[in-house]
Amino acid sequence: MTGVPPGEPMTVTAGPAGTAAACAAEARGVAEPPPKGGHGEAGLLLQVRGLSTDFAMKKGTVHAVIDVSFSVREGEVLAIVGESGSGKSVAALSVLGLLQPPGRCVAGEVLYKGRDLLKLPKGEMRDIRGNHISMIFQEPMTSLNPVFTIEDQLTESIRLHLKLDRRAAVKRAVEMLRLVGIPSPEKRIKDYPHQMSGGMRQRVMTAMALSCDPDLLIADEPTTALDVTIQAQILALISDLRDKIGMAVILITHDLGVVAETADRVIVMYCGQVVEEATTEQLFERPLHPYTLGLLRSIPTMEDTEATEPLYMIRGMVPNPLHLPRGCAFAPRCDRRRARCAAEQPALIEVEGRKLRCFLFEPGCNQAATALSPESAQAGGAVRRADSEVAP
Ligand SMILES: Nc1ncnc2c1ncn2[C@@H]1O[C@H](COP(=O)(O)OP(=O)(O)OP(=O)(O)O)[C@@H](O)[C@H]1O
Ligand code: SF4
Ligand SMILES: [Mg+2]
Repeated sequence: MTGVPPGEPMTVTAGPAGTAAACAAEARGVAEPPPKGGHGEAGLLLQVRGLSTDFAMKKGTVHAVIDVSFSVREGEVLAIVGESGSGKSVAALSVLGLLQPPGRCVAGEVLYKGRDLLKLPKGEMRDIRGNHISMIFQEPMTSLNPVFTIEDQLTESIRLHLKLDRRAAVKRAVEMLRLVGIPSPEKRIKDYPHQMSGGMRQRVMTAMALSCDPDLLIADEPTTALDVTIQAQILALISDLRDKIGMAVILITHDLGVVAETADRVIVMYCGQVVEEATTEQLFERPLHPYTLGLLRSIPTMEDTEATEPLYMIRGMVPNPLHLPRGCAFAPRCDRRRARCAAEQPALIEVEGRKLRCFLFEPGCNQAATALSPESAQAGGAVRRADSEVAP
């Protein structure tokens, strides 16, 4: 399901350098796209509101993304975390209009600088993907075409989107490969994907994604297949480009260490829903949702090397997406569940400047008073529903 529609280049090229950016701007002028840098509502770049995506299967409907809302500001890094199958990739593909049947967005809006991407004609959406929002896909090998060289693949999108001639496009492609740390890029550009290591292919994918000088990069597990050194280099590169060109990033990852180092804000997903949203500092200093707590407690620390207790594990398994529990989806695995949790679905509520989907934090709930700060427990009224809109 992951991938680019047949015949559509993944990205275009114009690097962070001034000349390439100017090139991209020129190319962009053709299809009257939204201006770069001209963000409405104080730098709000992307607002996802009430997004729901289903897969209609023979055995039933998989609700892969359920009423998900979040926003991304210019230059911000938003991390999306959650166990396998929690809907991270499907949410990203839905945002970019890259779902393949039987996947279908059944509700919601994806506002990019005020325009709903879910309603854009295909041509305009291609322009947004080529020139404004790029994605690094989860499986780099399946995203590169094995029968074409890296040069063919990089220059095709550069030529299409930047209207450069072949020579200029090759020059640009070599520059991009050098930027992402491919040694001898003039030679390696002639390689086929299978002649490169996993780390090299990931760098090529990163070069393609960054080549359009995007406003927003969606990086879906950009470092999973890489060894630790290359992981650190790719993440440093993304951070560097974010600083240089003010690019915002949605970083999808299992790696909470990467989140702690890279992200400004974090969304925790479970079974297709957002269960907690907080700043990175809030989340790591005081995780509140029982699922978030479980995720953080499962990370080994230096002290654990001397501990005699086994490392914490969230008990049980993620439920079958075709048979989600009636109440809170986390209830079968939650140490703090109550009778109500199995019968009713908690709403997403705002608590102390973060969002939580858990009955424990509803106003008047005693359990909340033990987990929240004394001031907020006394105030009680600082909690409100946040289902309809999630502001950063
Ligand atoms: N093509 C498909 N057909 C049916 N169900 C699908 C399809 N693609 C994804 N799903 C379902 O959608 C749900 C969310 O999947 P998704 O790939 O978004 O998970 P994820 O959070 O990205 O997981 P991972 O961390 O393993 O990448 C899962 O239950 C998955 O089984
Ligand atoms: S609503 Fe209940 S089951 Fe769900 S996370 Fe909160 S306490 Fe646990
Ligand atoms: Mg995924």
